[in-house]
Amino acid sequence: MSILPKHVSIVEVGARDGLQNENLVTTADKVHFINQLSQTGLKHIEAGAFVSPKWVPQMADSLSVMNQINRTSGITYSALTPNVKGFELALQAGADQVAIFGSASEGFSQHNINCSVSESLKRFEPVMELAEQYQIPVRGYLSCVANCPYDGATPPVKVAEVARELINLGCYEISLGDTIGTATPLRIAKMLESVNQHIPINQLAVHFHDTWGQALANIYQALTMGITVIDSSTSGLGGCPYADGASGNVATEDVLYLCNGLGIETGIDIDKVADAGWTICQQLGKLPSSKASLAIRARKIRDEQKRR
Ligand code: HMG
Ligand code: MG
Repeated sequence: MSILPKHVSIVEVGARDGLQNENLVTTADKVHFINQLSQTGLKHIEAGAFVSPKWVPQMADSLSVMNQINRTSGITYSALTPNVKGFELALQAGADQVAIFGSASEGFSQHNINCSVSESLKRFEPVMELAEQYQIPVRGYLSCVANCPYDGATPPVKVAEVARELINLGCYEISLGDTIGTATPLRIAKMLESVNQHIPINQLAVHFHDTWGQALANIYQALTMGITVIDSSTSGLGGCPYADGASGNVATEDVLYLCNGLGIETGIDIDKVADAGWTICQQLGKLPSSKASLAIRARKIRDEQKRR
C-alpha cells in the first residue's frame, strides 16, 4: 500500500484558466466568483492573467478584477505574468504572487507565447529580477509535460531539463501541466520520476486538464509519489486558447471528494466550492462539468424533497 500525504494544498485556477476560455463573463461576475471562492477555505486563488489583450481578450480586465475583489487575509491572490509588462501590471493589481509560464515543447511555446523555449527563459530573467526586488514569490508553469498539440509526445528528460531551468531562475515551485489532458498514470509516473531526479517533490505541483477523463487517476498517481500541491478549477472550467480541443482542468470539487475519501486534509469546504461553481456556471449558461458538483446538487434536491 503506497503512502499518501496527510495534507494537500489546492491552487484554484478557475478564475484564470477557467475564465480565460469563456467570452460571456463580466468583470462583476468574476469579482463575485473570486469573492465566493474566498469563503471556501481555499488558500491560493489565481485571480487573473496580465497577458496581451490581443492574445487573450478574456483576461483584459484582470487589473479591474484584482482591484475590486474583497481580499481575505491568509489567501494568496496570484496572476500570470509572461513578461515585464505583465509583472508591472500585476504589481499595480497588488498580486501576492505571480507565475511565469513556459513549455516543455517548442510547438506550444511558439503558439502560446510567441517565442522558443530558450527565448522564453531569457524573457523570464528580468521578471525574476523584478520579483526579487519586490519580494514577490514566482511560481513556474511548465506546459505539455506529456503531449504537445503540435509536437506529439514530450520526452520526460525534456520536461526535467526545462523544469530545472525554471527552478534555477528562482521559481519556488513548478506546476507540471498536462495541458491537453491526454496523459495516463504511467506516463505521469515516468515524467514525475524524471523531474524528481533533479527537483525535490515538495517543489512540484500538478496541473492536469481532464480532456480524456484521466485527471483524477493521474492525480492519484502523483499523490502516491509524494505530490502535495494540486491545481484545479471549480466546476472543471477551463482550457487553453492555444491548445485546441483541450477541455477544462480537473474540477476542484472532484479533487476535494477524492481527498476527503482518502482522508487527506485540504481545509476546503466542498459544498461551498460547488455553490460558487453553480453560480458562475449559471452566468455562463452551462452545467458544471464536475461529477461531484452534480452529485452534490442532486443530493440537495433529494434532501429538500424529503423535508417537504
Ligand atoms: P508578442 O506579440 O510576441 O509580444 O506576444 P510583444 O512584446 O511584441 O507585444 C505585442 C503587443 O502586446 C504590444 O501591444 C504589447 O504592448 C502588448 P501593441 O504595441 O501591439 O499595442 N503586450 C501586453 N499587453 C498587456 N500585458 C502584457 C503584454 N505583453 C505584451 N503582459 C506575449 C508575447 C507573451 C505577450 C503573448 O504571446 C501573450 O500574451 N501570450 C499569453 C497567452 C496566454 O495567456 N495563454 C493562456 C495562458 S497559459 C495556459 O493556459 C497554460 C497553463 O494553464 C498551464 C497548462 O495548462 O499547461 C498555465
Ligand atoms: Mg492550464
